[in-house]
Amino acid sequence: MSDLHDSKDKLAEPLVLAERRGRVGLLTLNRPDHLNALSDAVIDLLGDELEAMDADESIGAIVIVGAGKAFAAGADIGAMAQWSYMDVYKTNYVSRNWDRLARVRKPVIAAVRGFALGGGCELAMTCDMIIAAEDARFGQPEIRLGVLPGAGGTQRLPRALGKAKAMDLCLTARMMDAQEAERAGLVSRVVPVESLLDEALEAAARIAGFSLPVAIMIKESVNRAFESGLSEGLLFERRTFHASFGLQDQKEGMAAFVAKRRASFTHC
Ligand code: HXC
Repeated sequence: MSDLHDSKDKLAEPLVLAERRGRVGLLTLNRPDHLNALSDAVIDLLGDELEAMDADESIGAIVIVGAGKAFAAGADIGAMAQWSYMDVYKTNYVSRNWDRLARVRKPVIAAVRGFALGGGCELAMTCDMIIAAEDARFGQPEIRLGVLPGAGGTQRLPRALGKAKAMDLCLTARMMDAQEAERAGLVSRVVPVESLLDEALEAAARIAGFSLPVAIMIKESVNRAFESGLSEGLLFERRTFHASFGLQDQKEGMAAFVAKRRASFTHC
């Protein structure tokens, strides 16, 4: 499956930029001329960088942002246009590389400005929190292209904001602005465009300052709410809560509270 955009881009800058900001990993989707369209090469590289940050003990949380004015306007339509059923079926398109993104154990924040459409909205929803700039616009416009969402849109949208809006977005292809997305429960916070990155990095740094194993346990436990019934989910939470008493960070966190000092977590 050829992707001319990618080969052209590869001659220039990397499609995903990876940086460190203290204990926070920052990943920037870097195809601003194509509104960060998510080609296979972008998703491959994003998966590589996410896995590297997940394995790096000195990173406690990750932020994904888009270069330029958009988060991502979807999968790369130019690349997909000629693909046949057998092309996508045999290469296991989407599952092959997108599923890696959901397996990251550390908290991942999507910092969304501008368009988060199609695969861009699905990528944001694969993250654990979405912080949106006031100009963010979310949508699943695949129906316009004669396809349906393929990276979780029809599954994560109804879980995030209910059937009514999920059907509306997927069937009409309309976009939802940041305020509506916040009211509907898709995004955690809406912030001014100019402070988006700072707010996302600050939230990530705050998370990364807490105990990493506890942050991972919280992520697993919240995600379990979408994979199980209530009693199973509660049992999972209870057992994991019990397990947190095996951490040095539990001793430190509670001792610090009792001593009226700030906790210093060692992530073990
Ligand atoms: C490839 C894209 C793109 C995309 C934008 N571009 N979206 N290229 N794939 N998804 C390119 C345009 O071709 C253009 O390149 C440049 O980015 C700027 O886009 P414009 O259209 O000129 O900008 P604007 O007029 O502001 O319109 C913005 C827009 C529109 C409304 C977001 O670009 C748009 O409708 N894009 C497609 C959105 C979409 O349908 N997404 C879902 C994709 S399917 P040039 O070279 O002309 O300057 C999908 C399925 C996921 O995501 C399945 C699982 C992965």
